[in-house]
Amino acid sequence: MTEPGTQHSELPESTPDARAIVDAIVASVQADRSRLMDIVQAVQQRLGYLSKDAINAIAAGLHIHAVDVEDMASFYAFLGRAPKGRFQIRLSKTPISMMRGAAAVAEAFARETNAAIGNTSPDGNFTLEWTSDIGMADQEPAALVNGTVLTNLVPADAGDIIAALRRHPPIPLFPGADPQSVALPKARVVTNLVKSGPVIFQPEGRPATGLSPALNQSPETIIQVISKAKLRGRGGAGFPTGLKWKLCRQSISEAHHVVCNADEGEPGTFKDRVLLTEVPDLMFDGMTIAGYALGARHGLVYLRAEYAYLWSRLQRVLEDRRRRGLLGSDVCGRRGFDFDIRIQLGAGAYVCGEESSLIESLEGKRGAPRDRPPFPTDRGYLHQPTAVDNVETFVCAARIMEKGADWFLGYGTRESTGTKLLSVSGDCPRPGVYEVPFGITVNELLDLVAAPDAVLVQMGGPSGQAVAPKDFGRQIAYEDLSTGGSVMVFGTGRDVLGIARQFAEFFVEESCGWCMPCRVGTTLLKEGMDRVTDGCATLADIAALEALAGTVTRMSRCGLGQTAANPILTTMRNFPEAYEARLRPEAFLPRVSLNQALAVATAVQGRGPVEEGN
Ligand SMILES: Cc1cc2nc3c(=O)[nH]c(=O)nc-3n(C[C@H](O)[C@H](O)[C@H](O)COP(=O)(O)O)c2cc1C
Ligand code: SF4
Repeated sequence: MTEPGTQHSELPESTPDARAIVDAIVASVQADRSRLMDIVQAVQQRLGYLSKDAINAIAAGLHIHAVDVEDMASFYAFLGRAPKGRFQIRLSKTPISMMRGAAAVAEAFARETNAAIGNTSPDGNFTLEWTSDIGMADQEPAALVNGTVLTNLVPADAGDIIAALRRHPPIPLFPGADPQSVALPKARVVTNLVKSGPVIFQPEGRPATGLSPALNQSPETIIQVISKAKLRGRGGAGFPTGLKWKLCRQSISEAHHVVCNADEGEPGTFKDRVLLTEVPDLMFDGMTIAGYALGARHGLVYLRAEYAYLWSRLQRVLEDRRRRGLLGSDVCGRRGFDFDIRIQLGAGAYVCGEESSLIESLEGKRGAPRDRPPFPTDRGYLHQPTAVDNVETFVCAARIMEKGADWFLGYGTRESTGTKLLSVSGDCPRPGVYEVPFGITVNELLDLVAAPDAVLVQMGGPSGQAVAPKDFGRQIAYEDLSTGGSVMVFGTGRDVLGIARQFAEFFVEESCGWCMPCRVGTTLLKEGMDRVTDGCATLADIAALEALAGTVTRMSRCGLGQTAANPILTTMRNFPEAYEARLRPEAFLPRVSLNQALAVATAVQGRGPVEEGN
């Protein structure tokens, strides 16, 4: 596989050298078809983009059809079928970045690069694009330059950054470069852990590993302890982790797999970024404990492409664990327990956070969700039993095995035990990660983050709920307001409908297009919100929008489409006055004129519609 940091040399696509490069890359993964993601990333890294010839060469090397490679490559935002600039500047476009001035930053970059958004500069150096949230909501406006993150941008930075890039050696896209190691203005990611709690970030410092004592127990006991602690998945759905592990263990198969979902694509969430940065060992402990409990030998971390800058650091942690006997054969001296972990980098697709899409992507395919059942615990990665869990879930599991179920039960509520990491962004003086016990009310949280003037709290990202002040007494817990971790605070003067419209646009961008209700429905929802925000919608339009939102929710195939209408439905429910204030003054004006619609037929037939009463 291509060494990290190797940059594309812009070889003409059909030279023998290009062919040799592709062949070597394919050979480096033993022509394993399931490693197609690694292959296309490495080829793009070396050749600049995935040319027709490169795709044919990959297909030949893997003995598959070129259409399969093309189909996969066309799915991901970070894979290119055409040449792009040496530096691909992707500016994060979210309601938070926009209210922090991302539009002006984009204009400044466009001026400095001489490239309009969506285009490449005439000198071929820069491609400028908008992208969805990149996991930096606490330090927006932010951007990716190839695989390096720039944060806290202001328009005045653009000149210095572009001048520095013109002198800069190539920056890798896959796996990316650590911002701190790249000499560019604003190439810096701050951890922003604002509040430590007792479970994950203990005040006394870095937690000790609980791996060895855990592995002295039987797999069944581990599953019992996790179940007794009532640990629920931290990725959003809150599924009981002990039950998931039990089901997976019970599935009979040659092999079982543990997958850590580090896709963290929900806009406004960045707590997994902080965990991956601050306590990666705890996450790997949790995965290893899960591997032991399930009888798995393989663990996979699916790391979102936007976090490619963490790749090398995480590899070093894995190497260190192998040296310390925490991975490999007979882990921690436990005879017969062999376990290792591989990191798979994504390529830019929000839907790949959905566990079945993620598994497809891990297998080197486009990230289209699978039909369920069968569930991953029966047929997951390589169609073998697989437990997919969130980063935070594995961290909590490790802590439970270290301190015991009763200790964990001592925090949180009856149905939501332990603490929760919240990624707080928006109108508050100290955006960042807060570890709080489940059961905290929205009001208490707003006090904690010093945001007394909030008028809307978006709980759980765009797929979650828009919470109004009348509901700020509600509890953050699975039994009330649940969240995977995203908390976006909007203060006085923010445009509620504009926020909902931007979220609607996000779902249009991220729909995988597989099923019609979501593919077409998300576009219609966005158009409906355009009319609302433009002040062109009537009461009838609002009713139609609500009905459409219900259809998209009910008829979509996967969680993305099923939650895509949430920003609209929850703002309609909780902020009706915002919609009323923007209605077109006429109570009802049909947008379709019957006479106009039938004009052609009238001309052909020589007679008009039959008048009522005739
Ligand atoms: C569109 C979509 C995106 C998702 N993104 C993520 C994600 O980025 N991280 C995550 O852990 N779970 C995500 N999920 C939830 C996963 O499908 C799955 O429930 C989760 O990884 C299970 O882990 P847990 O039980 O530890 O929460 C997403 C779900 C949907 C429908
Ligand atoms: S609901 Fe959307 S994301 Fe899910 S399968 Fe259908 S088109 Fe794809």
